[in-house]
Amino acid sequence: MNAPVDMSLSPAPTAAATQPASGQAPLIDVCDLRKRYGETEVLRGVDLQIGKSEVVCIIGPSGSGKSTLLRCIAALETYDQGEVRIEGELLGYSDRNGKRMRASAAEINRVRRNVGMVFQQFNLWPHMTALGNVMEALVRVRGMPTRDARARANAMLDTVGLSHKGDAYPAKLSGGQQQRVAIARALAMEPHIMLFDEPTSALDPELVGEVLQVMKQLARDGMTMAVVTHEMGFAAQVADKVVFIDQGRIAVEGSPREVFHDANQPRLRQFLQNYFDRNAFWTRGADDVNVV
Ligand SMILES: Nc1ncnc2c1ncn2[C@@H]1O[C@H](COP(=O)(O)OP(=O)(O)OP(=O)(O)O)[C@@H](O)[C@H]1O
Ligand SMILES: [Mg+2]
Repeated sequence: MNAPVDMSLSPAPTAAATQPASGQAPLIDVCDLRKRYGETEVLRGVDLQIGKSEVVCIIGPSGSGKSTLLRCIAALETYDQGEVRIEGELLGYSDRNGKRMRASAAEINRVRRNVGMVFQQFNLWPHMTALGNVMEALVRVRGMPTRDARARANAMLDTVGLSHKGDAYPAKLSGGQQQRVAIARALAMEPHIMLFDEPTSALDPELVGEVLQVMKQLARDGMTMAVVTHEMGFAAQVADKVVFIDQGRIAVEGSPREVFHDANQPRLRQFLQNYFDRNAFWTRGADDVNVV
């Protein structure tokens, strides 16, 4: 990680800019987020609000900064400028007399405690069963008694349709099943928001559907989600908002319809055209984007 930069806080965003129509503060509020690796600025002023129960799908070319954005929201990366607020609280820094100071690890963990993340690579412990993987953080991080952790882990495996696989080791599970265990592991921590970074990209095509199905159900149950994905069908069907990131900036954002049908932004059109060219099984109907 780069060393954090000590700098003055950006001006506080106005209430009007951060409050969704409902009047409820956004769960995630990203304001003028900037991040550089050495000479390269990979996030160049990103503004993004995610309200409660909102599903935001993030699309864009390789290298455009999608993972970096999610990693900044999950506090897996520092950021150089701007603000990330989780449920109103500034993540990563504290404001002392107008000066930005790096927050302690304990403070960062406190602010991000309600953020769950699922990665492209499932990162399960190979020496633990599915149940053990889901229980681990409950026992070690949350200090939950083993019996309670086991009960919650079983319930979470049930949520992702894997109650019968609790005793299986990752090597005996398919990629789709491993990813569902990873989702159960994140859900066990009772997050208020789930971040997904290309959760199906490492899967064989026939296993993608079962993971997307679990994610759709989560969305239906009201989970707040930010999903980096190349699954345009999922984005079209499930997203409340689609965000197109290009070269470290949000170039287009809107409803799936606005982004997939009506946007005339040339880079977006080119990105979608490349996608449709590679995925000839798509049709684009008059009223919606359809998968056939
Ligand atoms: N740890 C790092 N050190 C240096 N450069 C990095 C690091 N992580 C990412 N980058 C660079 O930052 C830019 C954005 O990377 P990022 O992983 O966020 O892109 P992405 O949109 O997620 O791409 P992809 O679709 O391929 O996953 C890229 O140019 C990448 O090379
Ligand atoms: Mg990425």
